[in-house]
Amino acid sequence: MNLDKVPEIIARYGADKTASLAILQDIQAEYHYLPRAALEVVARSLEVPLSHVYRMATFFRSFSLNPRGEYVVKVCLGTACHVRGGPAILDTMERELGIKAGDTSEDNKYTLEAVRCVGACALGPVVLVNEHPHGNMTRDEATKLIKQLSSQEGAVQAPEETPLPRASVDLTGVPRPGK
Ligand code: FES
Repeated sequence: MNLDKVPEIIARYGADKTASLAILQDIQAEYHYLPRAALEVVARSLEVPLSHVYRMATFFRSFSLNPRGEYVVKVCLGTACHVRGGPAILDTMERELGIKAGDTSEDNKYTLEAVRCVGACALGPVVLVNEHPHGNMTRDEATKLIKQLSSQEGAVQAPEETPLPRASVDLTGVPRPGK
C-alpha cells in the first residue's frame, strides 16, 4: 500500500502531538481506514508510543482498523427506525450493493453496516452515508440513493443529505499523547 500521503498529512500539522486526532482523521479520510503501517509512521513522527496512537484509533467509532469502502453506508436498526421499516431498508441495501451488513464490496467502493440509534429517530428510518444523514427512507429511496452514489465517480459527498443537528464530539477521557 502506498502510504506517501501519511508524512504529508503529519507535516500539514507540523508533527504536533496535540494534533494527533486531526492527523488520524485525515488519514482515515484519505485511506478510508487506519492502516497499521500508517499508525506506526504517526507514532514515530510524533514521538509517542504506538500504544497511544492505537488507543486513540480504537476509541472513536468513526475510525476503522480494517479496510472500508469509499462510501460507508450505515442503516439504523435502532428501535424507532426498526418499527418504521429499517430492516426492509437494510434488505434493499444488501440487494442493491450485493453485500451483507458488515461487508465491504470487492471494488472497495461500499461498506455496509447495520447500526444502533444514530440520534435522529424522528426521521426514521435513517441511513448514513459517510456520516451524512438521509431520513424517511423507503425501499425506493434506498435504491435511488445507491444509484446516485454509483453514478458519482470518486465523489465522497452523498447526495440529498437530510439536515440534522450534529452532536459535538466529547473528548472527555481521550488518551492524550505523552500522558
Ligand atoms: S432509532 Fe434510528 S435514529 Fe434513533
